[in-house]
Amino acid sequence: MNRFDGRRVLITGAGSGIGQATVHRILAEGGRVVAADIDTAGLRGTADRAAADGVGGRLETAALDIADEAAVRSGVAAAVERLGGLDVLVNAAGILRSSHTHETGLDFFNKIISVNLTGTFLMIRESLPALLAGRVPVIVNFSSTSASFAHPYMAAYAASKGGIQSMTHAIASEYGKQGLRAVCVAPGSIASNMTSGRGPGLPEDADMSLFVKLAPAIGQGFAGPETVAGVIAMLASEDGAFITGTEIRIDGGTHM
Ligand SMILES: NC(=O)c1ccc[n+]([C@@H]2O[C@H](COP(=O)([O-])OP(=O)(O)OC[C@H]3O[C@@H](n4cnc5c(N)ncnc54)[C@H](O)[C@@H]3O)[C@@H](O)[C@H]2O)c1
Repeated sequence: MNRFDGRRVLITGAGSGIGQATVHRILAEGGRVVAADIDTAGLRGTADRAAADGVGGRLETAALDIADEAAVRSGVAAAVERLGGLDVLVNAAGILRSSHTHETGLDFFNKIISVNLTGTFLMIRESLPALLAGRVPVIVNFSSTSASFAHPYMAAYAASKGGIQSMTHAIASEYGKQGLRAVCVAPGSIASNMTSGRGPGLPEDADMSLFVKLAPAIGQGFAGPETVAGVIAMLASEDGAFITGTEIRIDGGTHM
């Protein structure tokens, strides 16, 4: 399947997890990709795998902090120039931090909002002119099951993801007549650095009984990031042509 032949794609969070898996999926389907992340070591891993797969010639990497307005402005401009335009933006970059809400400091709260919500907004704002001049343009944003279902100790994260979901609906409406689609994926229980315990985990005294309803209903536990990458490839291709202003939950049925 070569649904991305000739398509020009910018992906954030591309040095790890779902963003990285999406880079490989879109390269495998013929796309040209600029892979952006704040983690340059992660980007090297992305590039090494693309080279090993024989598709490295269609990939470029870019160090980028999506929460830094000036960096996003110059980073998106450089990506558009390298690709010769832009057809697809995938906003996978994000952070997860957990804490008791009554102990959550403003810096902690603002950090999560500034990366997840404001960073996604900045990437969209700077990419829109090129996307609207592109071919069958699509934005894929990252919500989370936490946006619509209760996830304790994650008030800031859930708020950031709920904001992304609402923002996506507004953008889908605002630019739909110009041919732009905007959709969210809402993953849950996907194995990545974010969920492996290598990132900041739950409070030490977390009440784990609150998580019993978050167990996947299918499979043996968490799924790999490629399960989300496949859905993103569908959404950003012609197969998703009649899908906009909504979210697709990919969570193994944890929230049925
Ligand atoms: N794994 C899950 O179960 C799950 C569930 C719901 C939502 N998500 C969302 O999926 C997306 C991808 O997460 P993942 O699970 O692959 O986690 P991950 O930690 O493996 O990947 C996240 C990537 O984002 C990058 N990043 C973080 N801050 C950044 C910044 N300021 N600028 C640029 N890049 C930055 C990180 O370096 C990392 O490479 C995130 O938006 C996350 O919130 C994941």
